[in-house]
Amino acid sequence: MTVNRRHIVLGIGGGIAAYKAAELTRALMEREISVQVVMTRAAQEFVRPLTFAALTARKVITSMFAGSSEDTLASAVEHIRVAQEAEALVVAPATADLMAKFANGLADDFLSTMYLAFTGPVVIAPAMNTNMWTHPATRRNLETLRGRGHVIVEPGEGFLACGMVGPGRLAEIERITAAVLSVLERRRDLAGETVLVTAGPTEEPLDPVRFLSNRSSGKMGYAIAEAAAARGARVILVSGPVHLCPPPGVTTVNVQTAEQMRAAVKAHFEDATIVIKAAAVADYRVADPAPQKIKKGEGGLTLRLEPNPDILSELGRMKGNRLLVGFAAETGDPLPEARRKLESKNCDMIVGNRVDRAFGSDDNEVVLALRTGEAVELPRASKREVADRIFDHLLKLRAALPATK
Ligand code: CTP
Repeated sequence: MTVNRRHIVLGIGGGIAAYKAAELTRALMEREISVQVVMTRAAQEFVRPLTFAALTARKVITSMFAGSSEDTLASAVEHIRVAQEAEALVVAPATADLMAKFANGLADDFLSTMYLAFTGPVVIAPAMNTNMWTHPATRRNLETLRGRGHVIVEPGEGFLACGMVGPGRLAEIERITAAVLSVLERRRDLAGETVLVTAGPTEEPLDPVRFLSNRSSGKMGYAIAEAAAARGARVILVSGPVHLCPPPGVTTVNVQTAEQMRAAVKAHFEDATIVIKAAAVADYRVADPAPQKIKKGEGGLTLRLEPNPDILSELGRMKGNRLLVGFAAETGDPLPEARRKLESKNCDMIVGNRVDRAFGSDDNEVVLALRTGEAVELPRASKREVADRIFDHLLKLRAALPATK
């Protein structure tokens, strides 16, 4: 008897490598993973659905709408049900066309529609001709998909069916299987945690129409919130003013000023088990904001600023056993400042980054200063990937530091 069998959807695209998906299906099933196969119309030109139906002992989904009118009603919402039941979506082989559809949100068949309805982890194993793989359009789509946190199992090099030699052949089945197992393991490792994240800049008013702020885009904090939710945490995102959509399944509290951020953070601090302060809080606010719009005068204008509360330092004094993470955005080498802030703000981790490489970008290159004294340099990666690495290290830290100050 199999208890708690993990369940995935395997989407098969229309390429010559589609026959290898049969081997992948078997490899996944041998590891106690149940597989629902979805084939695109083109995939069925290469392999018959019957092969996968026989392997999985399940009906293979081959189109958006079933033939009979009775079935049509049920299948109109089938993609939602299939999306809800799956713990991961694996696409192998992923053609250039499928990657383009996913990247741009096109939904004209079952697989692309289900992709949009799916909120869990996605593993994509592309396979195509070398020129198609290296084409700027495919490169751009690949970066978009990476930026969403999807795991890309890069194609290997070798002889391709078209006679060319180069990158494009589907990755080895063991590599794809290992990627699937790793996302399934990571999937629920934050279940039971309440993660409180702050993101974006704060705005400190001068008058009813003007404010002091900074260039923070909020992308790093939003990526952290998204990663935490995808890994099973309850997530509260306290966000300064940004132009981003809140990630699915996250409770968002919108604030404007540092004082409002402080109040929102303190209101949710009690319940939180992990607190990550990615926001770029303004250190100063205007002491006496004008109630009316300031009119220009003959001479200059002097603004008197007063310090804002340092929210992270306050939290450091009341952290208990929570894991507390701050950011250090620096113009020079971030590590010395990250280490200094780790101590002075009583944090478990400070994520150090350089403002010129981080602000506004979809990627980030950071160094993690840890309470254990270690420093971990993470290679440049999408903010979503960096977010996942931050959680990987936090969970290791918790195991290494059972009780913190
Ligand atoms: N932070 C905060 N409240 C503030 C200022 C900063 O909570 N008023 C938090 C940020 O969210 C970040 C960390 O402190 O996690 C470091 O922010 P940063 O501006 O780099 O540090 P400061 O302590 O303000 O140091 P400095 O500006 O002198 O580098």
